[in-house]
Amino acid sequence: MSPTPLTARRAGPLHGSLRVPGDKSISHRALIFGALTVGETNISGLLEGEDVLNTGKAMRALGAVLERTGEGAWRVHGVGVGGFRTPAETLDFGNSGTGCRLVLGAVAGCPIRATFDGDASLRRRPMQRILDPLTQMGARHESAAAGGRLPITLAGAREPLPILYRTPVPSAQIKSAVLLAGLSAPGETVVIESEASRDHTERLLAHFGAEVTVAPEGAHGRRITLKGESELVAAPVVVPADPSSAAFPMVAALIVPGSQVTLTEVMTNPLRTGLLTTLTEMGARIEILESRGDAGEAMADLRIRAGELRGVEVPPERAPSMIDEYPILAVAAAFARGTTVMRGLKELRVKESDRLAAVAEGLAANGVAAEIAGDDLIVHGTGAVAGGGTVTTHMDHRIAMAFLTMGLASARPVGVDDATFIATSFPGFVPMMRSLGADLS
Ligand code: S3P
Repeated sequence: MSPTPLTARRAGPLHGSLRVPGDKSISHRALIFGALTVGETNISGLLEGEDVLNTGKAMRALGAVLERTGEGAWRVHGVGVGGFRTPAETLDFGNSGTGCRLVLGAVAGCPIRATFDGDASLRRRPMQRILDPLTQMGARHESAAAGGRLPITLAGAREPLPILYRTPVPSAQIKSAVLLAGLSAPGETVVIESEASRDHTERLLAHFGAEVTVAPEGAHGRRITLKGESELVAAPVVVPADPSSAAFPMVAALIVPGSQVTLTEVMTNPLRTGLLTTLTEMGARIEILESRGDAGEAMADLRIRAGELRGVEVPPERAPSMIDEYPILAVAAAFARGTTVMRGLKELRVKESDRLAAVAEGLAANGVAAEIAGDDLIVHGTGAVAGGGTVTTHMDHRIAMAFLTMGLASARPVGVDDATFIATSFPGFVPMMRSLGADLS
């Protein structure tokens, strides 16, 4: 597909109320758990972005029946735990690390063989971190590209073994892959993480009737224990709005003078609210209007008003709760007064792009002083951004959306070389931002 450049320009204040699309993490999981359940799972508010649609295609190829019954409304007829069949074709996950890694885990617990592939960005991302525990559980990768990368052919375990696994980095994807494989292992599969990562898998496992317990481990960690070989029971899933998508209109409303925007039904799971905490420390005016919960996940309506921001220090232990939000936080930091130091960002190097490098390049291209020191990103904010640069997005949706947001408040326009990847996580980003008054063309 040919690239689609896009430019953001400063215009009047942003005003309005909107609900961003459903949470990407929960949407992938709802389809995968639905596919592993006997019976009918009804999902509402599913994110219909390319990443999640690719997971849906994979579920079909593995034997589940999926029906779209309305906008964001999907019905999944599952095959039961361990019930996947060998797919006729390669499973293509496009740009999505989450889809690919979770389904690797789900396939590892079934006596089948499947080939996994993705686009050029996904082919560069590390998969050995998933293959390691799955191999311990009895799965075998029959082939993989150098360094354990895609394309990978995985033979699932005939008799999966339960393991106790300490994740080498705090990653919900590694944790989820092990737990998904553990569903068909006898006995208890245990995952220990030294810092808690998003817990949607644990919550959905409990929601679908699995026996799962979560206990604290050390200062910031958790120990998750799953009892295997039990069937999942179908249960409806309501997907709240994605806080990682809400982050873009949120920061836009903070930095475009005079703006006031309400974002409704934003998920406020505490393992996803690091950006909210950080922006509040920066002096952002964000009010929680109404909170509620559904299917084990909390959500709230948020009212955001533009105002001055100040630089802050973001501690490394906060990284898991805002891992996808650093590009847009860097944009907020560029408009703040003073220096913002974001510590412990090593994992940003292995996302859809090397986000540490991509953010630093994008800031430099737009006249923002910033540097990378080890695994830290330091942004020197002056309260204003010159703009005028074109940012290379490196097949990364969040780099594209972050720098387009920057252009809405910078003195000169900000362009991105390719906006097509926005469709992986936030279809409707451009019309939604325009509906608030943003100038994007
Ligand atoms: C996700 C986990 C995070 C995050 C990704 C979604 C998930 O990755 O960056 O966008 O849904 O489990 P890691 O778990 O690898 O940090």
